[in-house]
Amino acid sequence: MLSEVLLVSAPGKVILHGEHAVVHGKVALAVALNLRTFLQLKPHSNGKVGLHLPNIGVKRVWDVARLQLLDTSFLGQGDVTAPTPEQVEKLKEVACFPEDCAVTERLAVLAFLYLYLSICRRQRALPSLDIAVWSELPTGAGLGSSAAYSVCLAAALLTACEEIPNPLKDGDDISRWTEQDLELINKWAFQGERVIHGNPSGVDNAVSTWGGALRYQQGKFLPLKRPPALQILLTNTKVPRSTKALVAGVRTRLIKFPEIVAPVLTSIDAISLECERVLGEMAAAPAPEQYLVLEELIDMNQHHLNALGVGHASLDQLCQVTMAHGLHSKLTGAGGGGCGITLLKPGFDCCCLWPCPRLQCGFSTCPHPESTS
Ligand code: PMV
Repeated sequence: MLSEVLLVSAPGKVILHGEHAVVHGKVALAVALNLRTFLQLKPHSNGKVGLHLPNIGVKRVWDVARLQLLDTSFLGQGDVTAPTPEQVEKLKEVACFPEDCAVTERLAVLAFLYLYLSICRRQRALPSLDIAVWSELPTGAGLGSSAAYSVCLAAALLTACEEIPNPLKDGDDISRWTEQDLELINKWAFQGERVIHGNPSGVDNAVSTWGGALRYQQGKFLPLKRPPALQILLTNTKVPRSTKALVAGVRTRLIKFPEIVAPVLTSIDAISLECERVLGEMAAAPAPEQYLVLEELIDMNQHHLNALGVGHASLDQLCQVTMAHGLHSKLTGAGGGGCGITLLKPGFDCCCLWPCPRLQCGFSTCPHPESTS
């Protein structure tokens, strides 16, 4: 068992194209953000395991001896096992949630317990440790906050239990795990995501584990070769929503209207592929027309996402306001509120996009004065 304090971080992400379609086996293009989640793990010997999540006001402590007495055979014996609904029900008994416990807290605690018990029970005794996780990412806004949380937990617990080595060598301030270790981190992080989201595609945890820009489809990803430096404005509508409910809504619509919805998903797939092609072309030989194509793809995808039922009035407003400045926007992530992305043309000064009326930007009313991130 690791004896030193460990500090881990993982990034959030934006999906350029392919959200929702990726859940149904289509391609998604996603990019890591420079907004991160951080985790500090402190091993100790006080017989307790603690979880502190200051962003969502969670502070929980369990007795290791009590957890040790649990029959954890319900977690299965496989290497990296997917959580079943029965296992999640069992974990709820372990967690002992108060009646009024918020959903975000419940899900974060369940994912922690699942990963802690699954990863650490391979040790002779469950370890006593304190974990604190804090983030620059807003929760439930489409930026992959739950994936970054799961990646940090998986990486820290696997390292603490010496399933993977601590990559920090003497004198290093910062380091990265090997590809093989990242594979294992990603596999466990995906299980954490499953506890939180039910049926995630795996794109969020893949981007959060590896970083960079990638094309993802059915558990396989390819880093985008030489992605061009695009300027993308991120707007948080601050409208709360649930990824799980939105993903379930698309599935219901697909079952109800297969002949209508399946072609929409196929079209989104084609948009992702076309975007990937144009990005490759931009890296090799940039030309202004390529921006026009990217803008058209954004518009078409946003209409498709509306047709899937994952739009929101706040996102429509984002599209209208940015369009008034000749810019194109779409939702990113699960939609239903959350965040939107706007492609900025080279040299565009985004300071004049979201100003308040005092700055005389041309808006008669400021659309979201506090919502730009
Ligand atoms: O809103 P987020 O960050 O949870 O992203 C969800 C992306 C979806 O494609 C809608 C779901 C998934 O699992 O890929």
